[in-house]
Amino acid sequence: MTAKRKNSTPKQLVRPMVRKLRGYVPGEQPNVPGLIKLNTNENPAPPSPKVIRAIRSAADDRLRRYPVPSAQPLRVALAKLHDCKPENIIVGNGSDELLALATRAFVEPRQSNAATRRQTIQYFTPSYSLYPILAGIHGARRNEVRLPADFGLPDNDALQNSNWDFGAALTYITTPNAPSGRGYLTRDLAKLCAAQKGVTILDEAYVDFADENALRLAKRFPHVIVSRTFSKAYSLCFARVGYFVGHPEIIAALDRIRDSYNTNGLGQVAALATLSDIGHYRKQFERIIQLRDKTTGALEALGFKVLPSQANFIFAKPTAITAAQWFRQLRERKIVTRWFDTPKVRNWLRITIGTEAEMAKLLTATKSILKR
Ligand SMILES: Cc1ncc(COP(=O)(O)O)c(C=O)c1O
Repeated sequence: MTAKRKNSTPKQLVRPMVRKLRGYVPGEQPNVPGLIKLNTNENPAPPSPKVIRAIRSAADDRLRRYPVPSAQPLRVALAKLHDCKPENIIVGNGSDELLALATRAFVEPRQSNAATRRQTIQYFTPSYSLYPILAGIHGARRNEVRLPADFGLPDNDALQNSNWDFGAALTYITTPNAPSGRGYLTRDLAKLCAAQKGVTILDEAYVDFADENALRLAKRFPHVIVSRTFSKAYSLCFARVGYFVGHPEIIAALDRIRDSYNTNGLGQVAALATLSDIGHYRKQFERIIQLRDKTTGALEALGFKVLPSQANFIFAKPTAITAAQWFRQLRERKIVTRWFDTPKVRNWLRITIGTEAEMAKLLTATKSILKR
């Protein structure tokens, strides 16, 4: 006689660790007519006409087939752009996918409370709010290290005297930093990378708006990866294409554990067309940088503290009202920005640089809020 099995509840079927997880909270994507959306650092301009044409003309019989599994033509084009080999590059479904793959390739999941360096994922706070979530999903030990009040990069001596772990299995560094927009010098990053023992990812999601990039560190150090994305600067958030540049063995490890067709076909087409029209985008970056600096000056003239930004967003702190009030009252005027209700940053708003007209409206709305 077979024993009667008591069915588990759906909740009980879920691993206890997963039951406790908090998912990533993306910036809201409201569908409100006339809304000015300055909350997720998207480029305010559409992709270039050439890119739109390429995507449209790929919507044909090809859709029923699988895309190129390793995105090889795109790897070849990226290798040409960055003067390296296709073996130095892996493409993913946005850089988020690759950031997650790195946890599986380089970090041992935690077995017990006695966590080791092999089980440690490390990052600065504040930085990209996905990193703690990825560590949680993987069951890794999190090592969070606070940035100083000006959000600058601490030097190795300062890190030596903090809880920083030079032996952490995986370290994420957002450069330029998000949400602060602060840029880090490549020579300072080089000193930090030289001292790191584990895999170190320089997350350069916003680097096209910065004075310098750290790509050469991925070529110099076998444990350093540079992460890039087509989402922000190249107006392709919708298409989900990001990539890593790194040592061939590190890239091969990630390649072994990715999904067979991790980069969708239309995304590959869009990214390839983008690379063939790069001049179009470089002109746009200039415009965004100029508008960023103009908006910074205008807010400073109104009494706001604004950090010098190397990204396509600014981080601004009001003095006459709280950041939460500024955020809510902008929202009432149909302008959405990003406010993080966490200790070190709740006095600041992160504002994406939109079009000239949108930034003018932001300033008009801010002046009227200050008058109230
Ligand atoms: C610092 C940083 N890295 C990576 C990403 C993810 O970009 P992707 O669209 O390529 O997944 C973001 C998106 O907000 C980001 O802010």
